[in-house]
Amino acid sequence: MHRELIEFAAGVPGPASAWIWRPAALRERAAALRRVLPSWTILYAQKANKALSDAAVDVVDGIECASREEVVRALAVGARRVAVAGPVKSPGFLRWLQGLDHPGIRLHAEGWEELRALADTGWTGPLALRVNAGEALSATATHHMQGAVPFGFSLEEAGRALRWALGNGLEVDGFAHHAMSNCLDAAEYAEHVDRALRVSADLAGDVVDLGYVNVGGGLGADPRGETIDLERLGALLPAPPAGVELACEPGRFLAAPAGYYLTEVVDLKRNGGVDFAVVRGGTHHFRLPAAWGYGHPFTVVPVERWDRPWARREVSGTVRVCGELCTPRDVLHPGRAVESLRVGDRLLMGDAGAYGLDISHTGFLSNRPPETYTVSW
Ligand SMILES: Cc1ncc(COP(=O)(O)O)c(C=O)c1O
Repeated sequence: MHRELIEFAAGVPGPASAWIWRPAALRERAAALRRVLPSWTILYAQKANKALSDAAVDVVDGIECASREEVVRALAVGARRVAVAGPVKSPGFLRWLQGLDHPGIRLHAEGWEELRALADTGWTGPLALRVNAGEALSATATHHMQGAVPFGFSLEEAGRALRWALGNGLEVDGFAHHAMSNCLDAAEYAEHVDRALRVSADLAGDVVDLGYVNVGGGLGADPRGETIDLERLGALLPAPPAGVELACEPGRFLAAPAGYYLTEVVDLKRNGGVDFAVVRGGTHHFRLPAAWGYGHPFTVVPVERWDRPWARREVSGTVRVCGELCTPRDVLHPGRAVESLRVGDRLLMGDAGAYGLDISHTGFLSNRPPETYTVSW
């Protein structure tokens, strides 16, 4: 871990519950991805971390959005291309999008009501259908976004939806296939791309001149440390078909290394035979460990300052790290050995930038929200 980062983490005002964004890490990831996918369109899925959208916009081709607020933000940071996904897009939202009259906005339509509303609105922008081609091919992925989930048109319905759309004045030119999240195996991901291309070509048949295939996100960057092997992926990917824009919309892969969660030990106690480190903040500021049920790796940042008139408590051995919420589920780590941990020391959790703060229920118990810092190195 960067020496600057440890120094910074020790120095922020306490008691600390803070997010530290390091946009340089996102930029490095984007550059590595670009080297492997030189001819692809790369759209940043900003739901992973909206605080990094302005850093991303300079190094990717555009932003994937799933709500009106996300579109507003994408345009505000200067996105030239915007892909709008999500299973619920109200007629009002679609009319608002149409009213923007922005040439870079493309819709990924996911359902019948949406198609009808688009035809009713007289949608004239680029349009793809999101396809749910059945169970995703990845065994390593943490989430499967195809199969028995409410996203996209099933293979049985996609052909009918395509013909209906074309017959009702909508110019569909391609398909979107977000199938999984956190796929860690390059061969599995390459197989997903291959299948997305085959399914798209089959659906297009001689009805549509296929111009766009978006394979979604899903490139793995696990908060516990493992990352998909990009070089291997590059070697395994099928050649892009001529005349088809090939797009992807990674969120986790780009954002994960660019965020650190920092928290501070405010008490140490032993209950029921377990040593607890009770920290400021917790899962309402960093929900991912509770959502996935894992202990997030951390580095102890020793803080030498101690200005209280009583002795400082210290523990060594296995500690469970819990937050400030009134629920036993507020656990950032169920048990990890530490050499020494004192009240006032801090815990720094890396590879936390994706779906860390953005999925957190910060309003619960009305505690002070986490601070956020952006560092330039
Ligand atoms: C439609 C869509 N595209 C892209 C993504 C980003 O996925 P990931 O963060 O796994 O790359 C998501 C995440 O849920 C999504 O719903």
